[in-house]
Amino acid sequence: MKFSYNSVALVFDIIDKIFFRLGKNNPRKAIYNLIPNSNINILDVCTGTGSNVIKIAKDKPNVKITGIDNSQGMLSVGLKKISKYKLNNINFLLQDAVDMQFENKFFDYAVISLILHEMDKNTAYKTLQNTHNVLKDNGKVIIFEFIYPENNKFFPNLAFKLIKKVEDDNLFPEFLSYDKEKYFMDNGFKIEKAHKFQYTVIYELVKL
Ligand SMILES: C[S@@+](CC[C@H](N)C(=O)[O-])C[C@H]1O[C@@H](n2cnc3c(N)ncnc32)[C@H](O)[C@@H]1O
Repeated sequence: MKFSYNSVALVFDIIDKIFFRLGKNNPRKAIYNLIPNSNINILDVCTGTGSNVIKIAKDKPNVKITGIDNSQGMLSVGLKKISKYKLNNINFLLQDAVDMQFENKFFDYAVISLILHEMDKNTAYKTLQNTHNVLKDNGKVIIFEFIYPENNKFFPNLAFKLIKKVEDDNLFPEFLSYDKEKYFMDNGFKIEKAHKFQYTVIYELVKL
């Protein structure tokens, strides 16, 4: 990413609506649908403003969510939403994804959304290994990431070009080129399903 998250925190949710929530078949809705409304602990790694988890906390009162991020600016926007909707099943913490401070095997689910492509491989692997440690045996991970657009439609291609412009010139193409089966297997996760969208993908992983 060519700018700091603190500097874009106030406009992040507007950008999010344009790029990830247009149309019926939107990936944020798919992530929402993958989380059951049962008595589970969820960790949202690099939660940002809580784009995935605020609605889950609101509509699925049985889940308990912890979001971590290292940008106070992003978390502050998320915290305002938590207090606006008076949610008591979600908590945000200022914490680094490569140095998580949780009990081992505590969480049932983890969400890692739109961050691995911005991390160098070493940091991404540390993030996945930390996530592995804090997940229960057979715990699930939902990954939301970019892929190259697979058709010539105007909007997805334009959106992808704009995203590419703001991403790191080396890390972004490098991430897109990885063999994802191997990438996740290296860190103890197996891809169970992949759901493709216009320029994004959701992987459902299971901890091995
Ligand atoms: C593109 S945003 C994605 C936010 C959210 N997951 C979503 O899907 O909208 C990436 C977030 O990762 C956070 N981040 C980057 N590196 C991090 C790290 N090492 N530890 C914790 N958070 C980090 C940034 O502050 C930012 O909020």
